[in-house]
Amino acid sequence: MRYTELAGLAVMAFATSMVGSVAAPPNPRAGQHLATNCAACHGSDGMSVDTSIPNLAGQHYVYLVQQLTAFKNGGRVSPLMTELARPLTEQQIADISAYYASVPIQVAKPPGSKHQP
Ligand code: HEC
Repeated sequence: MRYTELAGLAVMAFATSMVGSVAAPPNPRAGQHLATNCAACHGSDGMSVDTSIPNLAGQHYVYLVQQLTAFKNGGRVSPLMTELARPLTEQQIADISAYYASVPIQVAKPPGSKHQP
């Protein structure tokens, strides 16, 4: 295993332990309220308003917590998201992530796919 892979695993283990250290259980309703600050770009339901902005609807809770924590801590740098994530508390990150993760999405086979649904 290469060093970068090991470092990646260490980051994942760290982020997962952070998920476990949240004081109160993640609250998607509180997260939905906080997510009004994100709607201008990511849409009110996590379906983004522009093709250069990622959708968040239905994304995995753990992944969202990891990304927001990385923006906040500087592990992932984005001109927009770094500033937006910095003021968020661990609890707010958990709540927002729980909200977007709770939005149901449906995935279909691409048109012309030979695979059975
Ligand atoms: C001004 C537009 C804008 C606003 C407002 C905004 N975002 Fe973002 N967000 C972006 C862009 C652009 C990216 C892609 C960043 C990159 O290139 O790394 C992104 C990336 C993300 C990602 C990573 C998604 C992935 O697939 O890895 C998360 C999570 C996220 N934003 C959450 C939020 C949350 C939560 C809020 C509100 C607190 C928010 N964003 C507000 C523009 C915005």
